[in-house]
Amino acid sequence: MELRTLLNKAIERRHSLAAITNCLRLVNGKGDGCDGLLIDRYHQHVQVQVLHERWSKRVDEIAQILISMMPVDYLIVKSRQGLDLNVKVLKQGDPKTIVEENGLKFEVDLNDGLNCGLFLDMRENRRMVAAACKTKKVFNGFAYTCSFGLYARHYGATEVINTDISKRTLKKAEDNYRLNGFEVSKDEFVTTDTMAYLNRAVKKENFFDIIILDPPSFSRHEGKTFQVKRDMPVLIRTALEVLRPKGRLFVSTNYSEISHAQLEEMLAKSLNTRRVEKLERVGQDQDFPGSNSFKESYLSGLWVKFL
Ligand SMILES: C[S@@+](CC[C@H](N)C(=O)[O-])C[C@H]1O[C@@H](n2cnc3c(N)ncnc32)[C@H](O)[C@@H]1O
Repeated sequence: MELRTLLNKAIERRHSLAAITNCLRLVNGKGDGCDGLLIDRYHQHVQVQVLHERWSKRVDEIAQILISMMPVDYLIVKSRQGLDLNVKVLKQGDPKTIVEENGLKFEVDLNDGLNCGLFLDMRENRRMVAAACKTKKVFNGFAYTCSFGLYARHYGATEVINTDISKRTLKKAEDNYRLNGFEVSKDEFVTTDTMAYLNRAVKKENFFDIIILDPPSFSRHEGKTFQVKRDMPVLIRTALEVLRPKGRLFVSTNYSEISHAQLEEMLAKSLNTRRVEKLERVGQDQDFPGSNSFKESYLSGLWVKFL
């Protein structure tokens, strides 16, 4: 099929999302018949990711087609060469913009590494978790720019604790809180290792109603490494020690070597005396067709209610 027709089809199939967001994945590789090509739209800013060499020679054509189809203020193409990220700006402008999702605003910066400030694939999970947060005390571990925390506040959580090792991303989170008219309390944004915070919470008997754990596949902090495959069970076990009865846990990973079944096994290993009332498997949102069939588009998540 001709490229313009493929892109048009991909954009058309996402039409209904326009009612709730102006940022979405427009093309999800194989899932849209464009293996190795990812295109994300952040309002009038566009990010193209080239995963297979064959698209490299067609980026100008892709940019032209997109610009003819929609208003584009800024267009950036990213590709990886070994560990390096190659970046080419095909439509110049301010790389920063403000997007709106479910009535909440987020600032994103498309020229700030691979991740620009908001993970689009988590949209429905943010809404689902936040819908349970009214009057609840929420822990958001590995918070990044705290999109889950901001949603939780918007849906009426009484207290939210966001932890991340990156002061820089937590600073962006504070800006997003302000952008949405929420007061910024320094206690809500804690620059720390999430596991260390949870261990302190266990000692202090600091309990939560809802716990969110979305760790990276791998990270290094103050000489210690975190490896999701190795460390997820102990992370969940520790979190469950400070989850109140009737509490809920959202746990997820985008590490393509952990399937939903394996994540459930990790949970089962970590239960101790806790008993599950309800468990749902969740993944990426609807604009990620073909999800979990290739490693660049992957998310295993569980939404668990305990007795
Ligand atoms: C997958 S992102 C989380 C995305 C976030 N849940 C969201 O939806 O926006 C992982 C985050 O974990 C943070 N991180 C990595 N290792 C950490 C650790 N040991 N303790 C706390 N945060 C960590 C990274 O800085 C990064 O912001």
